[in-house]
Amino acid sequence: MKETNHITGSGVSLSGTPLPLPSLDGKTFYIKTFGCQMNVHDSERMAGLLSEEGARPVSEPGEADIILVNTCTIRDKADQKALSDLGRIRQVRKDGPESVLAVTGCMAQREGEEIFRLVPDVDLILGPSQIRNLIPLLDTVSRDHQRVDGTLWPPPDMTTPPALRPPGITAFVTIQEGCDKSCAYCVVPSTRGAERSRPARDIFQEAEELVSLGYREITLLGQNVNGYGHKGDSSGASFPELLRRLSEISGLHRIRFTTSHPNDMSDELIEVMASSAKVMPHLHLPVQSGSDRILEKMQRGYTLETYRQWVTKVRKNISGVSLTTDLIVGFCTETEEDFRQTMEAVEEFCFDGAFSFIYSPRPSTPAHAWADTPSREVAVERLERLQKLVEKQAEARNGKLVGQEVEILVEKWDEENSMAIGRTPQFQTVRAHVDAPSSPPFPGDLVQVRITQASRTGLRGRLSPNA
Ligand code: SAH
Ligand code: SF4
Ligand code: F3S
Repeated sequence: MKETNHITGSGVSLSGTPLPLPSLDGKTFYIKTFGCQMNVHDSERMAGLLSEEGARPVSEPGEADIILVNTCTIRDKADQKALSDLGRIRQVRKDGPESVLAVTGCMAQREGEEIFRLVPDVDLILGPSQIRNLIPLLDTVSRDHQRVDGTLWPPPDMTTPPALRPPGITAFVTIQEGCDKSCAYCVVPSTRGAERSRPARDIFQEAEELVSLGYREITLLGQNVNGYGHKGDSSGASFPELLRRLSEISGLHRIRFTTSHPNDMSDELIEVMASSAKVMPHLHLPVQSGSDRILEKMQRGYTLETYRQWVTKVRKNISGVSLTTDLIVGFCTETEEDFRQTMEAVEEFCFDGAFSFIYSPRPSTPAHAWADTPSREVAVERLERLQKLVEKQAEARNGKLVGQEVEILVEKWDEENSMAIGRTPQFQTVRAHVDAPSSPPFPGDLVQVRITQASRTGLRGRLSPNA
């Protein structure tokens, strides 16, 4: 069994100077990703670093020299999924000293060395803020034949690693990392560290490069993306300012962003969303609960009335805006009355979509030790009632779109069924039939579609003639 490495003998000296790196030429890698879009993009960045060193991706873990399992730890279920996948991957990984199994992402950061006990043949762990150290860490594992706990390494610099994105029309761009809020239930501040923004010029340059590669839409990512520029070197740009500058990139059709925090909302953001044709009218603004008592206990830092004021402004000023949210049920001390207030809030705000979750106590968060968490049965029952309401609202709203014309950005062309697949500005997926497949729309085109059918989950349409 390999020994755990505590920095000494590493591929980076304590002053942070990288030693010469071996090439990974001819090596293969496989990455499995769990969790949010930030994790998806982190995997793209790790793939970028590996490719730059000459390694190439494969689709099966059994074929890979380097296996990365990029984990999430937001709820207990996420941990369980990652651990079960690691159990499966251990069975199929290649034998031999050249084979490396690494656990990356938020669970790796939270558990640290404990991962080596939970999954005995893991060779390397690294957290989200250690991605830029991936290659020297791998180098250390192969050279020293030792297990390495990368979460103990000095933090790397903030340069942007390359990313290997799937070819397509739409791409993720991280503009901010970490979180300085302190919601009582949430592990993210401890797994992703303090909030910091990337320099605006780097983001602008990356967006321009993406457009030159054929991407037409970018989604800006951050834990609290609308807090961009509050901390770190954003080169002085605020979030609305960044959006304005990105809108000027010719060839870029659409800009999206997620997730926004109610306390980082501003009139300027609403103004730029209302006035820029490229900034899409979709705001994901998690409310979490409709009860002020629970919001306070969650340490969200706003009341329902403050949230309501933002919703009113957003809906009044941004034409056709869609508003989506996150909700937690069964938080510590949540009573039937608190839950009724959440249902009432959902009725009132009539969200265009909502992710709803049962509260999952997370180790080392303030709420972990709190008593009076509703029983699992009560929480499941509340979640079901909430999801039914959200679905009913979504169905009613989608139904209203039938007969209307909408613009979609074509992401895929399904030749077999003569269907163009894309999204509306509000982020709904549409499968649109094309009558004259001899001249189908190209991925990347903006086309007009008439909606012909709607269900809870999606929309069908027909490409409008002479579009
Ligand atoms: N920064 C974003 C949310 C990121 S986490 C925000 O504050 O809005 C994504 C969602 O996971 C949260 O909005 C919350 O609804 C949910 N979540 C986070 N921790 C959770 C926990 N311990 N149990 C259940 N859901 C949780
Ligand atoms: Fe977690 Fe709250 Fe930060 Fe969102 S704002 S990532 S819920 S601590
Ligand atoms: Fe999960 Fe980390 Fe994202 S905990 S939700 S992968 S920030």
